[in-house]
Amino acid sequence: MANGETDYERYIRTTELLALQKKTTSLANPDELFFQCIHQSMELWFKVAAFEIEKIARFIDGDDFERASWHLRRTAMMLDHVGEGLPILETLAPADYHEIRLALGRGSGQDSPGFNVLLEELPRLWAPFERALERHQLELLAIWKTPHADKHQALFRLAQGYLQLDEAFQRFRYDHLQLARREIGLAVKSLKGVPARNLEQGVLKPTYPALWTVIEELTISTNPVYG
Ligand code: HEM
Repeated sequence: MANGETDYERYIRTTELLALQKKTTSLANPDELFFQCIHQSMELWFKVAAFEIEKIARFIDGDDFERASWHLRRTAMMLDHVGEGLPILETLAPADYHEIRLALGRGSGQDSPGFNVLLEELPRLWAPFERALERHQLELLAIWKTPHADKHQALFRLAQGYLQLDEAFQRFRYDHLQLARREIGLAVKSLKGVPARNLEQGVLKPTYPALWTVIEELTISTNPVYG
């Protein structure tokens, strides 16, 4: 039996970590441990993602675009990983969730500290990109027109990392919307008293709109004539 004395246990702090869940004897429903652990692991991943964002900003300001791109990809993968966990929760029967939900008070994912940090920090990551454009006297449409030109390719790739991150964040919100739809439906009020359907707005909101607009600008600039 584990007693918290191995190097592994000390380093991972398994004793403290595994004491952070409700005792199995006081669960509102036998599926509550499962529910709580998914949320706890999400908070950990969001904490790491927020730290990655700080690093990315520093790499960009130091003109290390390759390293920044690498970390953007990593952060997007983290968000995808969290999102991929959500359908597991769809195996929770709504009736079982309601037993857990009634014990949550006004507890809501909207109060997730990790998610709220990301909601603030992801948009702020746009400023370092704009500073890089200014430092190198480049503009987005020109980069999109000749992405492989020597002076453009690093920032083009960096922008792809931003798009990947933006998509991952929206995908997480979409997967979460589907989960809420499966468990409580969207035509009801959340525990915060707001319509669950409001979650749809987040799904449709890109974090880096300029990067989506430049794709359209490039298409328009080619004067497409279809059929
Ligand atoms: C039974 C499962 C779940 C249901 C029915 C549900 C439902 C909801 C609802 C209705 C909201 C709207 C805000 C509010 O409460 O007022 C919300 C927000 C949120 N929930 Fe959940 N949730 C579930 C599980 C999860 C899980 C497992 C996570 C994380 C892994 C999560 C993370 C969040 C986040 C981050 C928000 C804010 C979302 C945003 O603003 O786009 N939720 N949830």
